[in-house]
Amino acid sequence: ADAEIGLIGLGVMGSNLALNIAEKGNRIAVFNRTASKTHEFHQDAGPLRDRIVPCDTIEALAAAIRPPRPVIIMVQAGAAVDEQIAHLRGVLSANDIMIDAGNANFRDTMRRFGELEGSGLTFIGMGVSGGEEGARHGPSIMVGGAEASWKRVEKVLTAIAAKYEGEPCAAWLGPDGAGHFVKTIHNGIEYADMQMIAEIYGILRDGLGMAPKEIGQVFARWNEGRLDSYLIEITARVLEADDPETGKPMVDMILDRAGQKGTGKWSVIEAQQLGVPATTIEAAVAARVLSSLKDERVAAQAVYGGGVAPFPGGRDEVLADLELALFAGKVAAYAQGFAVMAEASRAFGWNLPLPTIAKIWRAGCIIRSQFLGTLAKAFSGGPVANLLMTPAFVQMMQEANPALRRIVARSAEAGLPVPALSSALGYFDSYRLGRGTSNLIQAQRDFFGAHGFERIDSSGAHHGPWGSGAA
Ligand code: 6PG
Repeated sequence: ADAEIGLIGLGVMGSNLALNIAEKGNRIAVFNRTASKTHEFHQDAGPLRDRIVPCDTIEALAAAIRPPRPVIIMVQAGAAVDEQIAHLRGVLSANDIMIDAGNANFRDTMRRFGELEGSGLTFIGMGVSGGEEGARHGPSIMVGGAEASWKRVEKVLTAIAAKYEGEPCAAWLGPDGAGHFVKTIHNGIEYADMQMIAEIYGILRDGLGMAPKEIGQVFARWNEGRLDSYLIEITARVLEADDPETGKPMVDMILDRAGQKGTGKWSVIEAQQLGVPATTIEAAVAARVLSSLKDERVAAQAVYGGGVAPFPGGRDEVLADLELALFAGKVAAYAQGFAVMAEASRAFGWNLPLPTIAKIWRAGCIIRSQFLGTLAKAFSGGPVANLLMTPAFVQMMQEANPALRRIVARSAEAGLPVPALSSALGYFDSYRLGRGTSNLIQAQRDFFGAHGFERIDSSGAHHGPWGSGAA
């Protein structure tokens, strides 16, 4: 028993995480349900082979690790995690730590915590972002669980995490489900970012009639400025690639039907439960759902015509507006995502460190960007009601919102769908309106249901003079 840590599940994320852990000097015991995969992984590990202990059973895995044992579970979120936990409970002993590193629903993580409580075993719910490359060379790691458990695995987790100017992108964020919750919101923001990028691509492709490679160059240029981020960088690279089979631009050969595994949807559900508007994420999830209705969309095009009018304005002016509009949309999306986390922190008593979250997203994860550095600074001055109210972002939104407004308006007139960008604008405009229109909603509610309303000039509940027919 001389391995420092164990890992169950050698899929893409698990095997890369295991190699990363071994590379940082740790001996790691690994297990996969299909034993042949475990041995293949070991064979293919090159110079890291000596630090990897292939195990054919969970019992062998437990025996290979020096107690107290940390065991990472990297299997498909859901029932498979419960199965592994049940099995591990039989072979692990007091003080051992199970670490679920998959994209678990934080409510499952909280339940698992409850179930393990009192068993002597410890559980960590850990969000890991960065895809295959991140897992192998440095992901962003969001930990939830007992702080004492974190202290015991901090060394290995900070060693394998991405570094931003030397600072590890790994942190303990709070008890039980906090880590998986933050990872879920990370993904929700990822959905919004990706949807807004896709909407801008749509304007460039259908409104300006640009070819994929030209569009790729635009994104590559934007990646040098305020939009500098991993998602913009890979968008440029995707748009520049050709399909090896047909020689055509790869992106043109891909069916316009987006998949999703659930984290975006969970973000929206939890935002609704918490009563926090997350309209850009909602729009992004809905856009993926709508995209999957390919046959219906094709039929609707035959009825309504899919025509798009040319996008008005000179190209340079439109490109400058698009860059700023995307930036403004991004501000709204992050304002919403962080507002959801702030409210969850209150509701679940987590005390989530928002500046730390922004900091550990600056490298390693899918939404890493220059923007997150600015955001981390904006939050470091103490609690704020909304990102939109921090001085740095006030200034940026004042500069960028007119471009967002022009782009949304022109897209609407041209017939180009921009659901996430327009929800960002709707959110911003509603947020900055000191007197909105809910006075009318209150009057209607009182009319049909005698729900009562507050007056602007006196306190307490009041009713209106609605007369006959009213409730
Ligand atoms: C990451 C990613 C990753 C996630 C998908 C998103 O942070 O590395 O968010 O964890 O699995 O990329 O999932 P879907 O788009 O498939 O829902």
